[in-house]
Amino acid sequence: MPESRSFHEVVRNRRSVRSFLPTALNANLLRAVADDARHTPSNANIQPWQVHIVSGETRNRLSRAMLEAEAKGRMTPDFPFSYGEFYGPYRERQKAQGAAYYQALGVAIEDFDERRSTMLKNLEFFGAPHVCLLFMPAFHSVRIAGDVGMYGQTFLLALEAHGLGGVPQTLLGFFADTAREVLGIDPAMKMLFGISFGYPDMTSAASRYRIEKAPVDETVTFHH
Ligand SMILES: Cc1cc2nc3c(=O)[nH]c(=O)nc-3n(C[C@H](O)[C@H](O)[C@H](O)COP(=O)(O)O)c2cc1C
Repeated sequence: MPESRSFHEVVRNRRSVRSFLPTALNANLLRAVADDARHTPSNANIQPWQVHIVSGETRNRLSRAMLEAEAKGRMTPDFPFSYGEFYGPYRERQKAQGAAYYQALGVAIEDFDERRSTMLKNLEFFGAPHVCLLFMPAFHSVRIAGDVGMYGQTFLLALEAHGLGGVPQTLLGFFADTAREVLGIDPAMKMLFGISFGYPDMTSAASRYRIEKAPVDETVTFHH
């Protein structure tokens, strides 16, 4: 029973999965993941997440529309994001992650075309049969975005606990207008990121790739 795995095992086994089997989850399993994720804490319990789980033909339409938008340079992020602001250890970790990922895939860092097609796989949801898009009202506090981030982690841990896998994707948030148009979502709802998910394809290098995390003492200070 996947649900009986210990928290220790679930939280350590979770990783970003970027290759999936085409097999769709049945409706009960999709609902069970969403039912786990709704237990996420939030500021004043406002539960600001508005979650869209997209499957089947609508998933295919969404992917096509995002690829078309990308080809036309139509990026419409609701929230800014720039690698340029990362410095020191943050920049080092970002660079190490990119280098390790491309190395695992056998993509040379200077091969721009190959890196671009790797990037575009984000918009094909890495072959996942489902994608979950996380929207929120346009509240101006980063604290509320933090709530939605927490929802994302609960969702990812729920996937892991059910023997599934997923990858959070800021890149999908660069196509917020496209997602709203395809799915008929109120323009007042702003998209933070998406999570492609399904059954992991563990034969692929993209799934076996694993990135290390900083040791406790690098990020945690214990005060007595
Ligand atoms: C909010 C968020 C957005 C992310 N966006 C992307 C993305 O657009 N594309 C991608 O391939 N990975 C994305 N990632 C995955 C990170 O690269 C990954 O979490 C990190 O390297 C740590 O690896 P792990 O998830 O396997 O522990 C994102 C992660 C988070 C938390």
